[in-house]
Parts: sequence; C-alpha cells; structure tokens
Amino acid sequence: MSNRVSDSKFHRRQSKLVRGGMERSHFDEMSESMFLTSSYAYGSAEQAARAFKGKEDHYLYSRYGNPTVSVFEDRMKLMEDAAVCQSTASGMGAVFASLACLLKAGDRLVASKALFGSCDYVCSVLMPRYGVDVVTISSSDLNAWGEALSEPTAAVFLESPSNPMMQMFDISAIAELAHQAGGRLIVDNVFATPVFQRPLELGADIVVYSTTKHIDGQGRTVGGAILTNDETYYQDYLRMFVRHTGPTLSPFNAWILTKALETLDLRVHQQATNAADVAEFLLKQPCVTKVIFPSLSDHPQFELGQKQMRGPGTIVAIELEGNQARAFRFLNSLQMIDISNNLGDAKSMVTHPASTTHQRLDNQERSLLGIKDSLVRFSIGLEDVEDIKADISQALRA
Ligand SMILES: Cc1ncc(COP(=O)(O)O)c(C=O)c1O
Repeated sequence: MSNRVSDSKFHRRQSKLVRGGMERSHFDEMSESMFLTSSYAYGSAEQAARAFKGKEDHYLYSRYGNPTVSVFEDRMKLMEDAAVCQSTASGMGAVFASLACLLKAGDRLVASKALFGSCDYVCSVLMPRYGVDVVTISSSDLNAWGEALSEPTAAVFLESPSNPMMQMFDISAIAELAHQAGGRLIVDNVFATPVFQRPLELGADIVVYSTTKHIDGQGRTVGGAILTNDETYYQDYLRMFVRHTGPTLSPFNAWILTKALETLDLRVHQQATNAADVAEFLLKQPCVTKVIFPSLSDHPQFELGQKQMRGPGTIVAIELEGNQARAFRFLNSLQMIDISNNLGDAKSMVTHPASTTHQRLDNQERSLLGIKDSLVRFSIGLEDVEDIKADISQALRA
C-alpha cells in the first residue's frame, strides 16, 4: 500500500521541488522509492479488464506509466504549474513527440530557424518529409512572425533564448499570433531553464525540456518532458502518441531526475551568478571581440529578456579574434573546463558550435544565425568562479 504524501500541505515552489508528488510505501522511507518494473500483476482477470477499460486505477505497463515516473512527472507539474507532464526518454523525444502527435500532412508549421541542430532537423527536414508545410523564421522581429502567421497554422515552435546565440523571441506576442492563426505555440525552454522563464504563464501552450541539461544538472541521465495546460492536446494527441510509439523515460532515470529537482533552483541560481561574473570578466579580455549573455545591455533583445525572464541563464558565448584554428587552440588550452556539447551541468563545459552542435547547417545558414567559426559557447557550472576565470584567462593567453 503506498501512502501519498499530500501536496496540499505546502504551497511554495521550493517545497514543491523537494517534496512534490512523493508517495511513501508501507516502509515509510524518507527518500522516494524506486519501482524498476516493466509490468504489473492483477488480483483477478476481472480487475485486469476493469483496469484496461479505465474503470479502475491500476498501472498497466511501464510504457504507459510507472509509479516512479509518475512522481517525477507530478513534481515537474507542480514546479511548472501545469495540468499535465509527459516525460520522455530524451529531450529530442519530447521535441519530436510534441510536434508529431499534432501535425499531419497538409498542416502548416512555423518554426524559428534559431534552434538546436537536432530540433532544426526535425522541423526543417523531417516534418516536410511527412507532408507538413514548414516556414522558418530567423528574425525576432514580430512583423516577420505576423506575416508567417497570417495563414492558418497548426503549430509554432521556437526556443528562447536560442542555442547558441541566445536570440530571444517575444513569447506572449508570438503566442497571440499563433492563436489567431488557429495554432498552438510550443517553446523549448532548455536555455532559459524552468527557474528563469515560465512559457505557460507567458501564453505558450506547450513547453518542452531536455531534462538532460539543468534538471539533471550532474551529467547522469538523458531525458525529456512535455508540459501543458491544454487538456485537449494531451488527451486527443499526446497521450496516445506516447503510449503507442514508446519514447518512455526509464524509472531509474526518473528517480535520479526527481532527486535532482530538489536542488534545481539552488544550482541554477548559483550557476547564473557565476555566469554573470564570467561574462563581465570576458568583456575585459583583449582577444574576445564579443560577449553574448542575455543580461548584457548590448544584447539585441536585452529589453525583452528583462521583461520575460527572471534571470539571465547559465550560458555565455564569445567570439574570439581569429578563425576556427584559434578557437580550437583556446578550447585545447583549457585545463579545468571540459570540452563537451552538453550544458547545464555542475561542471563547466565549453563547445565550438560551428563544428559540433550546428555542423549540419551549411555556411550560409550558419552565417544567417550569426554562428561564426570563432564562436565559443560556455556552460558555466558550480566550481569556484575564480577557478573558472583563471582557467579561461590562462587559455586565452595560450
Ligand atoms: C535547446 C535544446 N533542445 C533540445 C535538446 C535535446 O535534448 P536531448 O539531448 O536530451 O535529447 C538539446 C540538447 O541536446 C538542446 O540544447
């Protein structure tokens, strides 16, 4: 017999992150229990029949649902103030499912061009292959979005701030335009993090996460989540799509992610404080020609960031003097910061987007997005910020 710990006993966000969705077994354990089971036994054939008809609450099969995965989804739901959370096996599983469950041949998708490489592949390559009419927009200018959304459109997909240039988009205004066109707005909120931006509050219909990033934050799992208040979207599209195509999160990974949520706010606030310190430091370095960080006043969407985000995030990008060889020399000279394409981790990381996450784009597409060969992206972690700056400083000198 499991014992649901009442979520109604606490109301504030941090308490929800620590305790939300918890169910205790008859052992009264303090830490959330883990159910590594693919399937469930029924007391009788009649009970199985009632469960399959939805007349009795009973887990059926872990592709459909699992108690450990449910605790994670409930905690995510409480954090985001969403009616529904559907977890997935990866962030890309969340992105693909959020779109594929909804779109059919002949529908129209309006997508930002400033997306993480795999998200752009789904929107620009895969969806047209399925007969979806796709329009991509590289500008933050609302006139461009208004023009694209002057025709009936089923879905709008964007990421704000974007990977890696941190281009921001007006979520409230684009949600309104999407609704006028009869569509739903899906926001990839990975860079902003759930700590600093709440797309559902801003008017978006669906928010997607790669939980691999800040939500895990310690480099252990790959996972994803889709959150919404749109019951029709969930019941008529998403629920059945996930059940029958199977991009399911494993209970073990769900357990790790549940525990990680307990420290999410603390970690992300400290990482953002470190990132702001590193951004200020980079501004003073002679061979750094540009620093890109949402809270710097020269960011092209600085005002928008101040309006729709509660904090700047944990990612800083720079342009270095010189070419790719110079950027590679800088990366190879770092002694503590790891070269890795992940982000949001407690360990600081550095990436060269043009040759890794965005290598699939051709030169013209990369230059449209401003991704130069000299661009370097940092994900700032939880080390002592003086050590982070010292490592960058010695690598710049090298
Ligand atoms: C913005 C963004 N969206 C989606 C993804 C995909 O997530 P995952 O690697 O968990 O599939 C990533 C990173 O990989 C990302 O940076």
